[in-house]
Amino acid sequence: MKHLITTPLITLAACAALLTACSPGKPGAPKAGEPKFNTDLPMTEFMGHFVDPAAFMYWKGSGYEMTEAGERDLSPTTDEGWDVLVSGATMLMEAGNLLQMPGRTRAPEADWNKYAQLLTERAAIARAAAEKHDKQAVFDEGGKVYEVCVACHEQFVIQPDIKANGPAKGDPLPAIPDDKKK
Ligand code: HEC
Repeated sequence: MKHLITTPLITLAACAALLTACSPGKPGAPKAGEPKFNTDLPMTEFMGHFVDPAAFMYWKGSGYEMTEAGERDLSPTTDEGWDVLVSGATMLMEAGNLLQMPGRTRAPEADWNKYAQLLTERAAIARAAAEKHDKQAVFDEGGKVYEVCVACHEQFVIQPDIKANGPAKGDPLPAIPDDKKK
């Protein structure tokens, strides 16, 4: 009988000790002043309203566009124009960090984090190319950034969708920028 009574008592004591060791309020809630991440936005919102616009800020200022009048150079012609590309690449660098935040990662996490880190790595090189106003490097590095988008989508969007629903009917990838189609 003694045994039956002491066990819950010990458990209670252990809980109390744990709770005091943590913070007041919900167990696991951050203490005042500690980092607290809000990952309420679904991945589609984060992609569609952060990652994708950032990427297009960069891609739109690279390569050539075919028009009836001939080829049109899409590269910026002003410092402000080049700055748009630098801003886009900056956001992509940080997007790689944001993708690895607790609450954002998907399993297998090692693969997810690898793509996220590659996004930051390649966006950093792309950013440097834009800072140098190097048209060819901007075109090439923009393409390498695009490869990371495709690789992550292949593993985490396309393949799971095919597994669940059979071969894709639409195109689940972001549209290929016109200048990358050639
Ligand atoms: C670490 C993995 C990862 C990387 C890198 C990544 N994405 Fe995504 N992306 C996703 C996932 C996962 C989804 C699907 C979200 C879902 O279905 O929950 C997605 C969806 C999207 C969508 C569709 C959003 C919608 O409204 O349905 C767009 C557009 C997109 N990504 C653009 C990009 C671009 C552009 C890049 C590269 C600059 C990129 N993504 C890089 C994981 C990634």
